[in-house]
Amino acid sequence: MAPKQKPGRSKQDYCTSPEFLKALKHRLGIENFHLDVAASEENSVGLRWFTEEHDALRPEVSWKDGWAFCNPPFGHIEPWVKKAWEEAQRGAWIAMLLPAGVGANWWRDYVDGKAHVLLLNGRLVFTGETTPYPKDCVLLLYTPYIRGGYEVWNWRKECESELLAQKELSSQSLAKSEPDLLLQISSDLWKLGV
Ligand SMILES: C[S@@+](CC[C@H](N)C(=O)[O-])C[C@H]1O[C@@H](n2cnc3c(N)ncnc32)[C@H](O)[C@@H]1O
Repeated sequence: MAPKQKPGRSKQDYCTSPEFLKALKHRLGIENFHLDVAASEENSVGLRWFTEEHDALRPEVSWKDGWAFCNPPFGHIEPWVKKAWEEAQRGAWIAMLLPAGVGANWWRDYVDGKAHVLLLNGRLVFTGETTPYPKDCVLLLYTPYIRGGYEVWNWRKECESELLAQKELSSQSLAKSEPDLLLQISSDLWKLGV
């Protein structure tokens, strides 16, 4: 017998942490998401956003505007992955955060073979929560070009490598005087044969 559903509705507005968004933007090589397609005035993470009142799922609403981000309500995922797939066919670029529902029909119909799947290594802690989300999550990339694929992504490492690069850069500029830096640049250029 299937286990009974827990009473009441589960939380539908988990907000993506700035730490994860930073890693994702680094991975995509972008400064900002142009569009957050599942948002409120208070929780948007994009330069532009759609709210429940706009209803991003309406057929006439376009998601095409640079990289769009989507962390939809997890209660009813199928219309979101369907819309993402359709919008990618029309030229949109979408990063969508979801629980790894690999056994669901929506996964079979609109994820497998249709999105590049980053399997998130490192549980997510949503903003305002004190404990990690208890399910594995994925980040789906839908674009007009990418077709299906799977990859494990250690997103925390992505942050670390960026921090290390920043640290290295700032310690270099702290440690070296301007003439030292000029000398190093000209020696590097010389090595490159420029
Ligand atoms: C999980 S929260 C996402 C919060 C934040 N934007 C983020 O990305 O972390 C989902 C948001 O989608 C909004 N939403 C629900 N249905 C929507 C719809 N049809 N169109 C646009 N936004 C919707 C909810 O009001 C809620 O603020």
